Amino acid sequence: MTGDDDASPTGPVAPGLFPITASIRGDGRLEVGGCDLLDLAEEFGTPLFVYDEAHLRSRCGDAVEAWGDGVAYATKAFLCVAMARLAHEEGMCLDVSTGGELHVALSAGVPADRLVLHGNNKSEEELAAALAVGVGRIVIDSFDEIERLERLVPEIPVEEDPHGSPQSRRRPKVLARITPGVEVHTHEFVRTGQDDSKFGFGLASGDAAAAIARLTRLDAEGTVEFVGIHAHLGSQVFALAPFVQAIEVLAEFFAPLGLPELVVGGGLGVPYVNGEEAPPMAQWAASVRQACRTAGIPDTVRVTAEPGRSIVATAGITLYRVGTVKDVPGFRTYVSVDGGMSDNPRPVLYGSGYEAFLPREADAARPMPVRVVGKHCETGDVVVAEGFVPGDLAVGDVLATPVTGAYGHSMASNYNKVPRPAVVFVADGEARVVVRRETFDDLIRLDV
Ligand code: LLP
Repeated sequence: MTGDDDASPTGPVAPGLFPITASIRGDGRLEVGGCDLLDLAEEFGTPLFVYDEAHLRSRCGDAVEAWGDGVAYATKAFLCVAMARLAHEEGMCLDVSTGGELHVALSAGVPADRLVLHGNNKSEEELAAALAVGVGRIVIDSFDEIERLERLVPEIPVEEDPHGSPQSRRRPKVLARITPGVEVHTHEFVRTGQDDSKFGFGLASGDAAAAIARLTRLDAEGTVEFVGIHAHLGSQVFALAPFVQAIEVLAEFFAPLGLPELVVGGGLGVPYVNGEEAPPMAQWAASVRQACRTAGIPDTVRVTAEPGRSIVATAGITLYRVGTVKDVPGFRTYVSVDGGMSDNPRPVLYGSGYEAFLPREADAARPMPVRVVGKHCETGDVVVAEGFVPGDLAVGDVLATPVTGAYGHSMASNYNKVPRPAVVFVADGEARVVVRRETFDDLIRLDV
């Protein structure tokens, strides 16, 4: 296949959009992790999230290799017990941004000191829970949160401490989240580094300096251990320049503090459709490190990141079953599948594009323009707005969308009381269900 074929919307899906173990058999059928996708649809039903376990492990390994110890998987991209375990086994810390994510990670057996707690509105309960178990880092986002910590830290039970004396009570390690005033070219809903943001302490407003002064004092008083600065610019960022720019802006401020840790957040983009390209993890890390060196940040500082999407997005494929094919003359052909905005709200929320293909002929040309839509009761329920599929697509076919491993399952809903799909991990010819499909009974289990 030539580079031109890869970029064409009507050619087969570009191989780079498939998980690493994907292979097209002689008869055109796609296998992932040694499992035939049509067999998986038959066995587990549709819609179905299929994750390539080798791909997940390899991306975690890339992250650890590129960033070193301390790099955290941003669990908001995709979280279940199996995923938390996998990321931990592969040497990553886990970024959790709510009490719920914290609970899942702890339930998976991830040691608390491998967790980083985020969130712009951490409740007293969430902070207390994090302090009680002893999370590895807390990334502080507001003055209100600092006050909450001042109140809560003295209440950490001392009996948890092996030495048992109040003096040796465990002090939480904290970072201050700073908004560096750097704008990235991504959807405005997922941009976070600009001055007008609900996240963090603004550099331009002077809030960052004030927060740091307070945390330095709390450190001196023995309430917290103030270890570093955090900045997250946004998500699905293809260019490395904004990260370099953020380091330039932060360095002036960070270097004199003499703190040991700097975290650049997540945000590395991934290709979703034919023709898109994103920098590899190693290049992202190398350019951030180079920027740190140039800006005079000492090599002894632990510089890490929190990738989410770039770990899981390409590992996942969603399988749907085609239910209707409706030609609307003069407009378009609508292909309806058995899921939609309840398993992937990204097209509706951000206008995100995806490819669609038939796993029974993964190498076929896709000359037929269609709009793939879901089964929900609204027009906005689009899976692929401008898709192309093979001309012989028919009702009953399994249709797949690649690169659905990030922010699909994690943002899934029960809209129209559609049960959420199952998640299977595939590896070495075996498929294991890691999240079972919701049942109709699950839909009423909270009703009292
Ligand atoms: N760290 C922090 C503090 C974050 O807020 C995020 C993402 C990440 C790390 C991970 O970013 P990633 O590497 O995944 O880009 N629902 C949106 C994405 C929202 C991202 C929110 N924060 C989407 O579907 O595109």
